[in-house]
Amino acid sequence: MLKFEIITLFPELFKEHLNNMPFKRAFKKNLAEIKLHNLRDYAIDKRGTVDGTTYGGGVGMILMVEPIYKALKTVMNYTDEQMKNFKQNAGAEKTRVILLSPNGVKFNQSVAEKLSGLSKIVLICGRYEGVDARIQEYFCTDTVSIGDYVLSGGEIPALAIMEAVVRLIPGTILKEEATKIESFADGKLEYPQYSKPENFMGLKVPEILLTGNHRKIEEWRRVNSRKTQ
Ligand code: ADE
Repeated sequence: MLKFEIITLFPELFKEHLNNMPFKRAFKKNLAEIKLHNLRDYAIDKRGTVDGTTYGGGVGMILMVEPIYKALKTVMNYTDEQMKNFKQNAGAEKTRVILLSPNGVKFNQSVAEKLSGLSKIVLICGRYEGVDARIQEYFCTDTVSIGDYVLSGGEIPALAIMEAVVRLIPGTILKEEATKIESFADGKLEYPQYSKPENFMGLKVPEILLTGNHRKIEEWRRVNSRKTQ
């Protein structure tokens, strides 16, 4: 069972997506669990403040250290004393606490494979213009980016990462084969696939696929798989 704990200001953004595959089956079969934690519940005041201006000046607001600290303390079930050695304690429990940020390590299929073997992953979704740097320095084990572009928050990166990871848990994808032959798994993109009709407005399915000659079809697919690099 792989447990995800998501710290976000927008838990609602996740719900529809998590009601579908591959999550639906993973939850049903108790292969994964995802808990959403609203950062607003850990605000520093009754007005729900979670962001502030940056020391030294600059435009925009960043997420403050305290609400994220409090959320992590709850999620990890740590005392303030345990929070002082956050990285070591999380590491000892084989828990990864990941801040989603464009300045992180680039996410790819091999990172997904490593994460799929863990039992607990905490994802911290940044928002606004950034996150107080003390979070990255003291209160997370990794920083991960889904690509060299800037999104408005870590919610879509968190969904992308969870989906890639959950698909790799055996039993989540119906045909075990599917994950194996799929894009990237063996350094290749998938071969082209076609369904009915054979001829769509003059656009035809390659003839070899209609022959039933499995050896030749396999060879055609191998040749026509696009390499990833
Ligand atoms: N937050 C904003 N942009 C991001 C990105 N590219 N990857 C991960 N988190 C982000």
